[in-house]
Amino acid sequence: MSAIDYFEKIPNNVDLANDKTLQRALEHWQPRFLDWWREMGPNDFASVDVYLRTAVGVDAQGWAHYGTVKMPEYRWGIFLADPIADRAIGFGDSFGQPVWQQVPGEFRSQFRRLIVTQGDTEPASVEQQHRLGHTCPSLYDLRNLFQINVEEGRHLWAMVYILHAYFGRDGREEAEELLARHSGDVDKPRILGTFNEPIEDWLSFFCFCYFTDRDGKFQLKSLAESSFDPLARTCRFMLTEEAHHMFVGETGLGRIVRRTLEVMKQTGSDGPEAVRRQGAVDLPLLQRYLNFWFSSSLDLFGSEVSSNAATTFANGIKGRPDETTQYQDHVCADSTFEIEVPDGKGGVMKDTSPMRNAMNEVLRDAYIRDCEIGLRRWNMQIKRAGHNFELKLPSSRFRRAIGAWANIPTDLEGHPVSREEHDRRMPGWLPSASDRDYVKSLMQRVVEPGKMAAWIAPPERGINNLSLDYEYVRLD
Ligand SMILES: [Fe+2]
Ligand SMILES: [Fe+2]
Repeated sequence: MSAIDYFEKIPNNVDLANDKTLQRALEHWQPRFLDWWREMGPNDFASVDVYLRTAVGVDAQGWAHYGTVKMPEYRWGIFLADPIADRAIGFGDSFGQPVWQQVPGEFRSQFRRLIVTQGDTEPASVEQQHRLGHTCPSLYDLRNLFQINVEEGRHLWAMVYILHAYFGRDGREEAEELLARHSGDVDKPRILGTFNEPIEDWLSFFCFCYFTDRDGKFQLKSLAESSFDPLARTCRFMLTEEAHHMFVGETGLGRIVRRTLEVMKQTGSDGPEAVRRQGAVDLPLLQRYLNFWFSSSLDLFGSEVSSNAATTFANGIKGRPDETTQYQDHVCADSTFEIEVPDGKGGVMKDTSPMRNAMNEVLRDAYIRDCEIGLRRWNMQIKRAGHNFELKLPSSRFRRAIGAWANIPTDLEGHPVSREEHDRRMPGWLPSASDRDYVKSLMQRVVEPGKMAAWIAPPERGINNLSLDYEYVRLD
């Protein structure tokens, strides 16, 4: 089951060759995908050789093959994790019953909306990053960018397969639309806000991988619990690839911190100007970028209290991350969850919601805890270097556009403040135009094997046990 057939036009482990109708439909979609990749992907690098991993199986061990590939020739395909024998529904009203191999008619539109929303984010990120290759800080980083790009392309395939295989004509139309919407497009933007934010520099890219891709990880984890088994299996395998994207974000930001600390040591100063004179990223600047991407990504989880979230949980459509191992009560029929909402008088008050309605908030809380891990690590580096500076995640009430705190001005700690105070202090909270200009000025491409740009430290090791000065991308 776990072997992937690479002799097929579309590599897969779903026995596509024996479903001619589906095979034809997907072979019809494939050239459109390739057109989209050529137009919206890292198209200026279509002819270069890149050291990439490609999925060749779905076992946790040894699932990937590494080798040199030109990106348009990457073998995008359909790979589902192996089925779990006698898998039962893990949460909601049908807890304990057998999982579904088809979408129940009554849940069809809810499933479709979730799959399309997830699917939309995958090509969106490729579009957002489409010009970054020109300003890479090293060949190692350039390769990682391209690895993420081809895998997000494959994640699009993963969702398109589900749409084509289980949603008939509606599914085929949605698959077309996934290639028609574009990040930041005025007329046909991507569905979710953060996926329309431009990513024009590598500091933003690493923040995106750390915060926004991590939202993807949590959405996939909760879909991997779904009672609709093909969707659960698809998402389980996507998570295997996703781990590298988290790694790129976390080590990217960690290397920036390390480089900044080196500069602070060399110059004997921790003033932002001194750090900038050496062409590195001062820590307050990094903090403002973290504030931006974290707060933007929090909105992706939706409203704190949501009847939609309650329905998808009750119906067994979308569970919680690690539903089986992290929770005792999988039905949540009578439990409650405490949330903090504005009290309408400029303060904060506690409110109690039925647990099922608070599932977005449960997910967001788990996400925030996961985001904190990297910050703890970076703060340890800063402390060990003898500096009295701590990177912090802003409050989840800060700069929200969705939910109870939407458009309520607060400071970074989440205390409600007047609109006037909020606007006055904002330049200290989010990257200013001059911050962005400075970061832009750092984005000079470095492509000599083993060399790094001055604003980022080298990684601890190369890819797949290769040395750091390996030519991960052959540009000529
Ligand atoms: Fe993805
Ligand atoms: Fe990703």
